Amino acid sequence: MAKDTLSVTDNRTGKSYELPIELGSIRAMDLRKIKVDEDDFGLMSYDAAFLNTAACKSAITYIDGDKGILMYRGYPIEELAEKSSFLEVAYLIVKGELPAARNLKAFVHNIIHHTMIHENIKKFIDGFHYDAHPMGIMVSTVGALSTFYPDAKNLFDMESRKKQTHRLIAKMPTLAAFAYRHSIGWPYAYPDNDLSYAGNFLNMMFKKTELKYSPNPILERALDVLFILHADHEQNCSTTAMRTVGSSQSDPFSAVAAATAALYGPLHGGANEAAISMLEQIGSVAAIPDYIKRVKNKEVRLQGFGHRVYKNYDPRARIIKQIAHEVFEVTGRDPLIDIALELERIALQDDYFVQHKLYPNVDFYSGIIYKAMGFPMDMFPVLFAIGRTPGWIAQWQEMLLDEEQRIARPRQLYIGEGQRSYVSIEERVNADVEDEGDTTGTHI
Ligand code: CMC
Repeated sequence: MAKDTLSVTDNRTGKSYELPIELGSIRAMDLRKIKVDEDDFGLMSYDAAFLNTAACKSAITYIDGDKGILMYRGYPIEELAEKSSFLEVAYLIVKGELPAARNLKAFVHNIIHHTMIHENIKKFIDGFHYDAHPMGIMVSTVGALSTFYPDAKNLFDMESRKKQTHRLIAKMPTLAAFAYRHSIGWPYAYPDNDLSYAGNFLNMMFKKTELKYSPNPILERALDVLFILHADHEQNCSTTAMRTVGSSQSDPFSAVAAATAALYGPLHGGANEAAISMLEQIGSVAAIPDYIKRVKNKEVRLQGFGHRVYKNYDPRARIIKQIAHEVFEVTGRDPLIDIALELERIALQDDYFVQHKLYPNVDFYSGIIYKAMGFPMDMFPVLFAIGRTPGWIAQWQEMLLDEEQRIARPRQLYIGEGQRSYVSIEERVNADVEDEGDTTGTHI
């Protein structure tokens, strides 16, 4: 039987090495013993943007990108989306098992009773510009929560971690809804503990003068499923930010602020916003072929298409596409769906997309649903952040309890200048690094 090892010959020295293979990988540290001489630092692996580097062992989420499979703790996403609720999935992701009825009841109770935020947080939301992007507000306010809960610094106390978990899952929707209401100048709507997690979020977003807000059950369920679909996605950019910042043992609110900041970018959580803008820009089914031409000329990207891991249809996109029809029964059909469906049809038949294995991802259809439900575009990544919070927490906790983990500290390949002596300013002849100062806008 073949041995689980890799034989490597260093042609610089002619020496051979045998490296153990575990879980389909070699340890990068084993490369360090490959040296040209005793003074050599040893071989490193170079992997810009972590294309082929596992930085942790994880038991939370499994993805097979080639087959289009996504499972949380072993349960297929399709089953969870059909049968479970977001808070049950949050429990599963954070604790590892589906809860018994009494455990779920206690968990839901704990989340519901942590939805309020300190009144002072409202005051600094008030300080933001009326048109501040709600993701910017989220990054700041969730980070600020750490100053209200200094007990969150007790990272290795399980009870403290549990409490911060409840607080984070409970308060993200409140911060999100308050950020939205600030942007439209409406008074904040406080949480209603009689409602479900998604129902209460709709209440805090859209409640007007009615005494009691009753969410539409189809929209409430659709939003709950959308949260389930976003709950974790293994080592993506924001989760890596969560683990990296958490690895310095900062508190979980600060780490979630960092993860939220990572999610803010258009290549990650901002893609659903970008997908809607793209559909609006295309404007009609007739204009699709032209747009596809521009994509193939690499002038623009097809937003909501492509994925670092999925080289097949993103299973979340399939579920979302189905939900869209249920939501439209309530809200009326958004004409952008016709452009999206036709764009998908044409793209999936086109050689460029087939060869590059580009399929719709989670963001292709989610924005259309959010828009139909009345969420403004800049709230889309915020909705993603709410759904992803249990995943971030579970990954952070797994990192803290993993004895192999230490402060994250990648290596670099230095390609800069060798040592040189300081040259006085009068003697510098070739200083061509420009810094003319900022000549645009005001300087407040
Ligand atoms: N449209 C057109 N071409 C694309 C696209 C796209 N959306 N995505 C990738 N490609 C091409 C790219 O031009 C390159 O072609 P070539 O090899 O000929 O130069 C090839 O496919 C590989 O692209 P890449 O940028 O090296 O792939 P990546 O794994 O670094 O990027 C991605 C993944 C998601 C950033 C990228 O596919 C993309 O920019 N998609 C659009 C934005 C988007 O929808 N993001 C949401 C991701 S899912 C939600 C999440 O997890 O946050």
